[in-house]
Amino acid sequence: KESEEESSVEGESLKKRRLPHAIIIGVKKGGTRALLEFLRVHPDVKATGPEPHFFDKHYQKGLDWYRNLMPETLPHQLTIEKTPSYFITKEVPARICRMSNSTKLVLVVRDPVTRAISDYTQILSKHGKSKSFQSSAFIRNDTTKINTSWIVIRIGLYVKHLENWLSVFPMKQIHFVHGENLVTNPGEEMRKVQTFLGLRTFITEDNFILNKTRGFPCIKKTMSSKRGHCLDESKGRKHPILPESVIAALRRFYRPFNAKFYRLTNINFHWT
Ligand code: A3P
Repeated sequence: KESEEESSVEGESLKKRRLPHAIIIGVKKGGTRALLEFLRVHPDVKATGPEPHFFDKHYQKGLDWYRNLMPETLPHQLTIEKTPSYFITKEVPARICRMSNSTKLVLVVRDPVTRAISDYTQILSKHGKSKSFQSSAFIRNDTTKINTSWIVIRIGLYVKHLENWLSVFPMKQIHFVHGENLVTNPGEEMRKVQTFLGLRTFITEDNFILNKTRGFPCIKKTMSSKRGHCLDESKGRKHPILPESVIAALRRFYRPFNAKFYRLTNINFHWT
């Protein structure tokens, strides 16, 4: 008993705040919160709650400020944060590399068309009545002229943003999580993430339970739980139904960029 107490005291003294070993860099509305909450189930992972936004908004505050936002960890534990805007911010890759060139990067991607609608749904829920999707997405209501300066559209040009990261980090340091598969098959995606992060496989299909009303997997507190802990209401919102012609125009627009993204990553995400 005494030695148990001693080692726990010793453990406490080894605890300290460390800069992240891995960062979930995006994409916004890809399923980044789900991924972080799922990873948190692992005993060797500690994660920040809110998004730190250090490398895009608070960089001038310095690394000590950033480190102070991190949870306390033991030496064998991984520290992880997520800030989805990192993926699209030009300066971020070089800044992360300056912190540590061995930082592991995780990117959750989702069909850019549904991602855009998800992003727009969030804008509607935050600002109430807003301009129609069409009036922002198309120039002069012409469905052949996509407004690529609208951030909701621009984020989905994954290959463009990825090229910026690849000018700093090698491909092997970036792991791609298939956003759709994270919903339908979370166990499989989590196995791959754990392998990439060098973690023992602790999170498996047995940790999840499908919440039928919400249509999303939730985390089981104990293996025998009948109910799971679900993400809050802001995740898994109902999307507005847009005209078929709008969806078709977006699909047409993203198709060549998606094809290039598949080639670059060597993964076919099967977005249609
Ligand atoms: P929707 O609200 O459009 O369905 P992020 O956390 O990056 O903002 O992503 C939000 C998206 O995560 C949600 O978008 C939802 O589709 C997806 N998601 C993935 N797994 C989920 C889960 N287990 N519970 C809720 N949402 C999940």
